[in-house]
Order: sequence, then structure tokens, then C-alpha cells
Amino acid sequence: MAQLWGGRFTKETDQLVYRFNASITFDRRFYKQDMEGSMAHVRMLAKQGILTEKERDQILEGIQGILADVESGKLEITEQYEDIHSFVEANLTDRIGDAGKKLHTGRSRNDQVALDMRLYTRNEVLETEELLKKLLKVLLRIMEEHTETIMPGFTHLQKAQPVTLAHHMGAYFEMFQRDRSRLQDIYKRMNYCPLGAGALAGTTYPLDREYTAELLGFYGPMLNSMDAVSDRDYLIEYLSAMSTIMMHLSRFCEEIIIWNSNEYRFVEIDDAYSTGSSIMPQKKNPDIAELVRGKTGRVYGALMSLLTTLKGIPLAYNKDMQEDKEQVFDAIDTVKGCIALFTGMLDTIRFNKERMNDSARHGFTNATDAADYLVNHGVPFRDAHGIVGRLVLHCIEHQKALDDMSLEEYKAISPVFEEDIYKAISMETCVNKRLTIGAPGKEAMEKVIRIYRKYLQE
Ligand code: ARG
Repeated sequence: MAQLWGGRFTKETDQLVYRFNASITFDRRFYKQDMEGSMAHVRMLAKQGILTEKERDQILEGIQGILADVESGKLEITEQYEDIHSFVEANLTDRIGDAGKKLHTGRSRNDQVALDMRLYTRNEVLETEELLKKLLKVLLRIMEEHTETIMPGFTHLQKAQPVTLAHHMGAYFEMFQRDRSRLQDIYKRMNYCPLGAGALAGTTYPLDREYTAELLGFYGPMLNSMDAVSDRDYLIEYLSAMSTIMMHLSRFCEEIIIWNSNEYRFVEIDDAYSTGSSIMPQKKNPDIAELVRGKTGRVYGALMSLLTTLKGIPLAYNKDMQEDKEQVFDAIDTVKGCIALFTGMLDTIRFNKERMNDSARHGFTNATDAADYLVNHGVPFRDAHGIVGRLVLHCIEHQKALDDMSLEEYKAISPVFEEDIYKAISMETCVNKRLTIGAPGKEAMEKVIRIYRKYLQE
């Protein structure tokens, strides 16, 4: 057992208590950030004359040695230490002697751990954002290739009106773009430095908190020391943003699973992203999409878990806060893995244009346009709605699409129809007449694509 306290204790910690309390099994994940923070702290202490330059250099060299040995695998972070902070301090003192014991001057593990977690997640927020950018690039490529690929748009999972694949993908582009901007916002709010807050009330040493913050790439120090050691809002925000990302991925996966089904066959998932069945030789399953959909639950779980952990905690630091780590780490690993795999799957998926077009043509997705045709010839919309309803009924009885009815059949239901009805309700017309901004018409879509292209270049 290696711990940083014990002076006021007369008994050894019970083994079970020690293990229950220890955090080394998970906080060793941010060993690098812990040492980075310590080095900045020591530089500041020397600048302020709290440590001598000699002590500073000894400590810096010692920490750099530990870091190098951990990275090369020469030094293992074992469970004999209570936490990563004890590991570093114990090893430092072994290496450089008494100077190592001065590292913790003007610092508490409360501000130290708050700093480590912030440094670690700050980087993860950026990496998550970068992964989303790659996904957006794939979406943009698909959009560019499919401004003329007609497919049915759905409401209630019933065919509604024709759209294009570019338009459908564009909806996801918007979602992931918002997700990205949420991460950027979180970064702006979280990037303030808690170090120097001490246990909760600052310290009596003349620390230069602005300097430490600057060394560590923060915008500045956090302005209230009690808040600095007990704020976990940024983790809630990050978990919330990750939950939203998973919700979007999950919806997309659900569509891909449906589109990949034997009944739809709108897409075929690449062999590299599918799996087989141990018993049914014909099977090719969309497991990746199903797993991403499934993993959404544990990210939501992490958000609820941390919200619940924090709700009853009085100021300032309480040990409950140690519970922030495992859930957040698991969510980060899950979300980053899901975005990367989903991106690969989407990048290699094959779209079956004929099936999509055929499906759009055989679902009365042009019924609204047939009604609009009548309106353009002076029929009030409500009457036009009724007439087209009768046309649809006729088609269902005779098992045909609106496009396949003869002009006589049209005229029998309304004499207003003329030869130009066929052009008016062709899928191409239906889509390309929808030219308001945000609509699927090719010209409208191309304008939006240009905006997206520019956004991704920035
Ligand atoms: N392992 C602790 C955590 O993760 C570090 C802070 C410990 N502070 C304390 N007062 N016991 O929160």
C-alpha cells in the first residue's frame, strides 16, 4: 500500500477499504496529463520563488524520466499505489530524494484530479470532433454523387413524397454538424484551469494561477476555488453531447438496417462490415449497425449515472466525484469507436439506385403532385385531394402506379387531366420542382452542398 497520507492514523487501512477507495485501476489512464500538470505546477512554483531553480530542474528531470519509463513499458503503474498521483510522487521521491517531496507544495489532490480530468477530456472532445468531421466528409461525398438518385421519403415509415439520396444524407449532415458545434461550445466553456484551487479554499502560497493556466493551454484560471474542485458540469455536457451523437448514429443505423433488409434492398453493406450466421449459410447480418444502435444505451446510462451522482453533493470536493471517471471513459471509448466504425461502414456501403427509384415510383409518392396539377388547372385543393384519392383507389384495385394509368382512365375520374399529367407526376419533375432552400430539387441541393463543402474546408 502506497498512500499520501497516514500521519494522523494509528491503524493500517483495512485491505477492503483500501481497495474500495483506490482509483489507480482507472485514473492511470491520465498518467500523462497528471505529469504534465505537475510539471507546469513546479515551473510556476519556481517562478514565484517557492521552489529553487535547482529543485525545479531536479523535479522536472525526475518526472520526465518517469514519463519516459512508463511510455517505454519499463515502469508499470501497478495497483500497489492508491492513485496516479501517489504513483508519480512515490516514484519521484525514489529517484530524486527529498526534492520530490516538495512537488505537492501549494496543491491538493482535489485541484490536481480536477485538472487531470479536464486535460484528458479536453483532448478527447477535440478527437471526437475530428472523428465527426471525417464522417461529415463521407456524407458530403455521398451527397455529391447522388443529387439525382431518387428514393421515397417517408413519414410514419410509409412512403410519402419522392426525395433524393443526397437530400436524405443531408439531414444527417445537419445533425452531425450540430453535434460538432456542440463539442466546440463545450470546449470553450471547459477550457479554464482549476489548478491552484487547493483543497477548496486556495492556498497561502503566492501562486501565479494565470501563469499555470497559460502553460497548460487554458484560457485562464477558474475564478472560484470551491467551484474549481467540484465542478463536473463539463462532463455532464460532454456526456450529453455524446448521447446526442449516439442518438443520431442509432437512428441512422436503424435506417441502414431497414434498407439492408431483404424486403428493401436499398443498400448492401460491404462484406468487411457484415457478419454471418453460424447456422444459416445464407445470412449476412448488419451487426455493426445493430451494435452501434445497441451501445447507445450505455452512453445514456453514463449521463444518467453522473447526473445522479452529482445531485446531492454539497460543496466542495466529496469522494463521490471519483465516480465521474469510469463512466466517462467508457462513454468516450464507446462513442469514438462507434463513430469510426460507422464511418467505415457508410463509406463502403453500396446504394441500389434502381431499387430506390422503383420503390419511389410504386408508392404513390407523386400523389401530392397529381393534386397540385389539378390545382394549377383551377380545381380547388380540397376537391383535387378527393379526386387523387379516387385515382389511388383505382390504382390499388388494378395494381398499377399512377404513371401507368391511361389518359382515358384519368379522364374517367376527372376531365381536367391532359397528356401533360405524365410529365407533371414523373419522379424527376416531383423532385426537381422542389426548389425552395432545404428542399431536394437538384439546384437547391447543389447550393446547400456548396455551403457544406465550404464549411468542411474551414
Ligand atoms: N481519486 C480521487 C478522485 O478521483 C482523487 C482526489 C482525492 N481527494 C481526496 N480528498 N481524497 O476524485
